[in-house]
Amino acid sequence: MTHIIQPGNPEAAPAPDTTDIPAAHAPAKAPASSDVPPALKRRVPKYSDLAPLMQFKKPEFSKDARLKRASTIWELRDIAKRRTPQAPFDYTDGAAEEEITLRRARQAFLDIEFRPGILRNVSAIDLSTTILGKPSRLPVGIAPTGFTRMMQSEGEYAGSRAAESAGIPYTLSTMGTASIEDVAAAAPNGRNWFQLYLWTDRDRSLELIERAAKAGNDTLMVTVDTAVAGARLRDVRNGMTIPPALTLKTVLDASYRPAWWFNFLTHEPLTFASLSRYTGTVADLINSMFDPTLTFEDLDWLRDTWKGNLVVKGIQTVEDARRVVDHGADGVVLSNHGGRQLDRAPIPFHLLPEVKEAFTKDHTDAAIMLDTGIMSGADIVAALALGADFTLIGRAYLYGLMAGGRAGVDRALEILEKDMARTMALLGVSSVSGLTPDHVRLLGKH
Ligand SMILES: Cc1cc2nc3c(=O)[nH]c(=O)nc-3n(C[C@H](O)[C@H](O)[C@H](O)COP(=O)(O)O)c2cc1C
Repeated sequence: MTHIIQPGNPEAAPAPDTTDIPAAHAPAKAPASSDVPPALKRRVPKYSDLAPLMQFKKPEFSKDARLKRASTIWELRDIAKRRTPQAPFDYTDGAAEEEITLRRARQAFLDIEFRPGILRNVSAIDLSTTILGKPSRLPVGIAPTGFTRMMQSEGEYAGSRAAESAGIPYTLSTMGTASIEDVAAAAPNGRNWFQLYLWTDRDRSLELIERAAKAGNDTLMVTVDTAVAGARLRDVRNGMTIPPALTLKTVLDASYRPAWWFNFLTHEPLTFASLSRYTGTVADLINSMFDPTLTFEDLDWLRDTWKGNLVVKGIQTVEDARRVVDHGADGVVLSNHGGRQLDRAPIPFHLLPEVKEAFTKDHTDAAIMLDTGIMSGADIVAALALGADFTLIGRAYLYGLMAGGRAGVDRALEILEKDMARTMALLGVSSVSGLTPDHVRLLGKH
């Protein structure tokens, strides 16, 4: 039997044999009240002790207070969901078929481990970068999204102005509900890019390209993952129409979201603002946006026609990334359209290291951009570390827009900026160029 020697209590009786009992499970001796140190004795609280603890504030219901309470993009999404009718919310939030692509894309960013460096001077974090020959204050821009005024009536104006004040590029969609010229006027000091759905009808494409150049857009982003429309099943289930139709369901829904409906009904009706010259129903226009006859020859024509930066969006294999660069692209966007087209598509974040390796081998300096699934600044940092030159966000900014218009987009960008700065400081990296693949471990590979 082992005797436990209790320091300070030599008279203690020999303790029971506890050799096999782990310390955490050994019976604890109940403290006698005389064991409590005098400083911890109970007393009646005085008002002077309580006063500094009492910080009752008037509850705030303003838009700013609502947005400030969101500390993540997911929390902005919660607000967006409460304030937006189901059909436009689901149109934004949803993806194609079983939404496997979108879930996997978001999961890919979670399946990593960061590898921080210690004892680095990170007192100042510089998030600025250069993309396609010009500076951007943050390594992220706004991706093209169609029908943006349907999500919230400030739509493209909110996105382009928020991007202008954040010092980052804004991409207007061919399906935008504000025109090329109106966006340029709304954000005259912004860096505006134009996304093109290329048609085999070249006159039609040419007119838009010329307008984009005239309005000062320095980059044309041609989207190539839409040979046909993806099957967005939430839209089918919601009976989604553009513009939203007033059915019994939508009228009932309106009673919970009066602000959205008030804004919607008191602003200009939704149109494809850059395509207003084209006649036909909105459905006809949407169908005509997807051209299954396009080939690399059309890309060659575009390269000859557009003198600014040409970026191809919707690249999903290394071979295609190389091929579009061979055909004159200045950059690629690794993207599966936010999971809205092909379900079970390749995940851009998985594809990224392979494309980076291929471009390095080929000695090409074409820009590698990436989107799909980004919901935090840490996602962006991980993408930059694995070789992306730049990133784009779709839903992350649209959740902000639906949560609070322009102020909501500002808040989304502010959240991402803070996330990025904090993540980089904790990684021991003070500038975007200091991020390397060594900062990220892909968990699946180990
Ligand atoms: C509501 C919505 C509309 C979109 N419209 C377009 C579009 O008109 N043209 C385009 O090239 N991509 C469009 N996209 C795809 C985005 O440009 C981007 O690739 C995608 O949103 C990235 O994924 P994320 O939403 O997870 O950030 C749209 C995406 C959403 C969510």
